[in-house]
This record gives sequence, C-alpha cells and structure tokens, in this order.
Amino acid sequence: ENVRGDNISEETKSLISSLPWNKDCLGKLYNYEGCWYYPNTLQGVLNFQKGFKPQETDIIIASFPKSGTTWLKALTIALFERFKNSSSSDVPHPLQSDNPHGILPFLELHLYLKSSTPDLTELSSSPRLFSTHMPFHTLRVPFKDSSPCKFVYVCRDVKDVLVSHWHFRCAYFQNGLDKSILESSFESLCMGDGSFGPFWEHVLSYWRGSLEDPEHVLFMRYEELKSEPSAQVKRLAEFLGCPFTKEEEEGGSVDKILELCSLRSLSSMEINKTGKAPNNVNYSSFFRKGEVGDSKNHLTPEMENKIDMIVEEKYKGSGLKF
Ligand code: A3P
Repeated sequence: ENVRGDNISEETKSLISSLPWNKDCLGKLYNYEGCWYYPNTLQGVLNFQKGFKPQETDIIIASFPKSGTTWLKALTIALFERFKNSSSSDVPHPLQSDNPHGILPFLELHLYLKSSTPDLTELSSSPRLFSTHMPFHTLRVPFKDSSPCKFVYVCRDVKDVLVSHWHFRCAYFQNGLDKSILESSFESLCMGDGSFGPFWEHVLSYWRGSLEDPEHVLFMRYEELKSEPSAQVKRLAEFLGCPFTKEEEEGGSVDKILELCSLRSLSSMEINKTGKAPNNVNYSSFFRKGEVGDSKNHLTPEMENKIDMIVEEKYKGSGLKF
C-alpha cells in the first residue's frame, strides 16, 4: 500500500500499515490513539509527540475544526498584545498584518508537520502561543514529566460545526455548494470516522481535562462567546493570567479587543481577504457567517435529530450539556 504525502517517514509508513483506516473524498484516514488523521497530519502528530519540549508558560489553543478556532486565536493574541503595543505606536497590530493562524500556528499541521525538531526561536517570546486539533490525551504525551502549561479548548454545537465544515470544504474545492459533500460529512460525523473525529471523544477529552485540572484547562463554548462576549473574554484573560485591570475596563479595553477580533473587523482586513495559509487555503474561508444555529438552514430535521440523539447518548453521565 502506497501512502501518499511528502513528509511521511519509513517508520510512519510501517506504523500506518498496522492502523485501522477508512476513506473520504480527500483520501485515506488512519486511526491513531482513537482519532482519525490523514497521513500527513499523522506524521505531524508523531513528530510533535517525539520532539515537543513544553515550557510551563506555554499556551495551547485547542479545538475540533470549525468550532471557533480563528476567533479564539485572535482573542488570545489581542489579550497579550495589549502589553506590547502602546496606543501611540505607529506599528500596525499583528492582527492587521497577519491572519490569526499565521501568528498562532498549529503544532501538528504546521510547526511539526515535517520535522520533530523545528526551529521555534521566532516564538521565543513568553508565553509561546500554539494551537492544535489533536484530542487532549494525544496532546498531553510530551507533558508527562513536566508541569503542564495552559490549554484553552473551544467547543461548538456539532450541527453548526458540520455546516461550517461543509461550507469550508466546498470553498476549498471551489465548486459551489455541493449537497453530496454535506451528506457524506454527515455520515462520517455520525460514524465518528472523519478527520479528527469522533467529535464527541474530542470534546469529552478536554471536558474531562477541565474538570480534573481547571487551573490548566479552560473549556469555552462558541455559543457563550457569542451571547456574552465581555464576560467570556474576561474569563479567558483571567485564566491566562492576564486579567483586565479596573483602569483597562473603564477605558474600554475589553470592547476594543472584542471589536478588533469581531468577524466583521477581521474579515475586512486585507490579509484575510487576499492571503493564503501555507497549505494554500484562502484565509477568507475562515470567515463566513459566525452565527449560532445556522445548521437549521441546511440540515433536515431528521439529520438534526440523529445527531442530537448520538451526542446525548455519548455525553451521558459526563456532566456536559449541549
Ligand atoms: P461559520 O462557518 O458557521 O460561519 P474555525 O475558526 O474553527 O475554523 O471555525 C470557523 C467558524 O468560526 C466559521 O463559522 C466562521 O465564520 C467563524 N468565525 C471566524 N471568525 C470569527 C469571529 N471573529 N467571530 C465569530 N465567529 C467567527
């Protein structure tokens, strides 16, 4: 069996040959530590597990794809940037010159994609900010003997995740909105065998992590960020050890950050209108509607019911409500 991918080592090819696999429209996926990955991504995960040297001050933003990663990254960047950027400075805010994914890179999809010893010197400022779509048990492997850093997870209603993912995939293929892609994504979501799935195992890994160690794992929800943005961004700042001072609050700092990181503001920046990620994805496709409940406009009631039933069953006893 030939495994395609320019970064796959012989060792990984041999590992892959022993792993369960399935297939979707982008190719084969392999199950590693209970989660499904395309071969390139799996190599990135293995490189990360082998080579990542955590620092206590590191911050890792984690999510299932299409759950609000870009937004959470932007907010985190803006929270730390306020200590660097004096308002009199002429230097543009980093969010004006780069996309949040360019500033706050993915471990397995970017930094460790091709090597277990990437050069991280550019990230040497403390805290180092990273992101990931790996589930918590896989992410934690390099943290065995060291104090954990801080992890922030953002979770979103899985029906909106599905619809967001469908639009994202269709934008990637540039072939209009193809209903058959929605149907196959729905099937693989329900089967739990899509990229980074099963969704519920992913969410539960961080949910349990946050219950066990709330000082190091913060569990956030896209819907709460939408309904009470100020309270949630203050919660984030406090967790990350950079709470807003009274003066900042009175001076409108919270609102400024929320405005800068709003969908409207980010999506109208030139870099996000015309720029591309290293993997050739247009940055513009990370910004769409940003609404809660858009799934109602695209899923049938039967699809919604089936997903709700699965998730209810999977979350049973965990204390996690959706
Ligand atoms: P929709 O497709 O439902 O609009 P991710 O960042 O994890 O890839 O998730 C993308 C989803 O987050 C998209 O959802 C996108 O529109 C939304 N999003 C991106 N930036 C946002 C922001 N600043 N505020 C709110 N939602 C945002």
